[in-house]
Amino acid sequence: MAHEWPAQRGDTGWPAGTAYPQALAEFARQRWGWDGLTVERTALVPDVMHGVVEALRVVTEAGDAVVVNCPVYPPFYEFVAHAGRRIVKAPLSAAELTAVAGLAQQYGVRVVADEIHAPVVAGGARFVPYLSVPGAENGLSLMSASKGWNLAGLRGGLLVAGPAAAGDLVHVPFGVSVSTSHLGVIAHTAAFRDGGEWLDALLTGLDENRRLLAEHLPAIRYQHGQATYLAWLDCRALGLGDDPATVFLESGRVALNSGLAFGTGGVGHVRLNLATAPELITEAVRRLTSAVG
Ligand SMILES: Cc1ncc(COP(=O)(O)O)c(C=O)c1O
Repeated sequence: MAHEWPAQRGDTGWPAGTAYPQALAEFARQRWGWDGLTVERTALVPDVMHGVVEALRVVTEAGDAVVVNCPVYPPFYEFVAHAGRRIVKAPLSAAELTAVAGLAQQYGVRVVADEIHAPVVAGGARFVPYLSVPGAENGLSLMSASKGWNLAGLRGGLLVAGPAAAGDLVHVPFGVSVSTSHLGVIAHTAAFRDGGEWLDALLTGLDENRRLLAEHLPAIRYQHGQATYLAWLDCRALGLGDDPATVFLESGRVALNSGLAFGTGGVGHVRLNLATAPELITEAVRRLTSAVG
């Protein structure tokens, strides 16, 4: 019998079952060599950002300080503030995750890690799940297939607890998990369970796009990222001011994310999305070059 999609049989109700965390657990075992993700220590959340907010509600009180490592995905500022928490900006450093976990233990700080980009690693790089490092036992992590398989429109995230944080999941309200999209859960499950080959092709394409970008960029500092499909470009040497994205849009007709929205560390930087056809990368670089030339 031909495969029937849930929508074809009228199954557009609530999400149910544990297929999504099971698929993620298997993916984590295969890709990251991590078998510490257990189905019982996960909770369905509508998406990663709402998962972050729910985790903060569990581990902090209204008015508490939340440290955000910047520059960071801009909605972090809005979501954390909207949850009634105070943001303390801490620019990213080269400190390793184990050191973060050690400091968190020492000072009684809880870590909520956004690991949405985890499946998207560059060739030769390995993703280390935060919850797999020593000292992270009481951490919480948010995962999703949204970035790896472009499923943002099909909402669905997983809140994953370390062994010492399992009790926190009880405090995630029932209404949160049932607000997760049923079709989203099906799509995210399918991605983690059956989308390995597709992901590998994507990772190969992204490696090629990173190479293309580095080869042709004008006097812009760019360090090959080890993960994500996003390139963070340091344009400070070009003398284009605090917001080079505006200049690139106006004189080069190429749209990039302004670094300013990412917070401290974003001045003079732009973000370029590499998840596109190589011809578009080449054309974008040509335009960047002509805008500064
Ligand atoms: C770092 C990061 N976190 C979270 C999100 C948003 O995830 P969601 O749509 O599941 O809330 C994004 C999307 O771009 C992201 O880059």
